[in-house]
Amino acid sequence: MKLVHTADQWNVLWLSHLQKNHRIGLIPTMGALHEGHLDLIRNSIQIADISVVSIFVNPIQFNNPEDFQKYPKTLDVDLDLLESLGVDYVFLPEVNTMYPSFPKLKMDFGDLETVLEGKFRPGHFNGVGIVVAKLFHLIRPHIAFFGQKDLQQVAVIKRLVNDLTFPIELNIVPTRREPDGLAMSSRNLRLSAEDRKKALILYQSLLKAKTALLGGAAWKGIKSQITEVFDQTPGCRLEYFELVHPETFNLISELEADVRASICVAAFVGDIRLIDNMPIQD
Ligand code: PAJ
Repeated sequence: MKLVHTADQWNVLWLSHLQKNHRIGLIPTMGALHEGHLDLIRNSIQIADISVVSIFVNPIQFNNPEDFQKYPKTLDVDLDLLESLGVDYVFLPEVNTMYPSFPKLKMDFGDLETVLEGKFRPGHFNGVGIVVAKLFHLIRPHIAFFGQKDLQQVAVIKRLVNDLTFPIELNIVPTRREPDGLAMSSRNLRLSAEDRKKALILYQSLLKAKTALLGGAAWKGIKSQITEVFDQTPGCRLEYFELVHPETFNLISELEADVRASICVAAFVGDIRLIDNMPIQD
């Protein structure tokens, strides 16, 4: 496994793989790797000839400076994990490589900006869009891997690839959960033992709402019941609990036959913000 820090270093390697007709897989991450990340990487190792994992905590996608400063960093452990999986390259750019100057370009993902993550984290998708576009240009992968855990981010990346005609195939990987159901996330490392238990409220609410919905209950009633559960749980604060179309993110008020839907949730547990989602049709 080779560590790559600069575009020049990568360009030489990229050319040699291109000459061998290798298909290059890219897995963009911010490090603090867990089994969810590793699922994406395992997919790449199976599908692509060469797998590149990028680790870069992207400053411009954090709308909360404290969240950026406290983002977990576990580079040595990450590198050992990647080596043991059989990753070919780890791209570890310096901030100056990604941002020789502060980008003045603003990406606006239209209606995706006005709901859920777009609404509650203004500027977040601009930061994600810019860094992923840069990684696509720098690494030039044939296929890139993203997790369903960040469902709206997937919709953003699909729009980025479609609207800017990136010649890149996307591979979307299901959410990996802890044995008790909590969606794996680097931010889980920052939960206290007590909050770690409370954090199950996200998964349990999704499950309860899905069961009720499939049992024929109306969404409005389900949403108000779940909101009440959050209101009555000290230390937990719900930001949103919505039923949406998983690609357009249009809000859905009632299930319809043959129309796909997902429930999305964001909530603070203590001062850690967590998100999760669940498809209604498996
Ligand atoms: P990060 O949170 O490190 O996640 C990297 C990738 O792993 C994302 O595609 C994310 O959806 C996926 N992932 C995270 N938790 C997962 C889980 N429990 N199951 C399956 N996949 C999971 O997402 C980002 O970084 C950044 O926004 C990035 C795309 C790297 C741009 O900076």
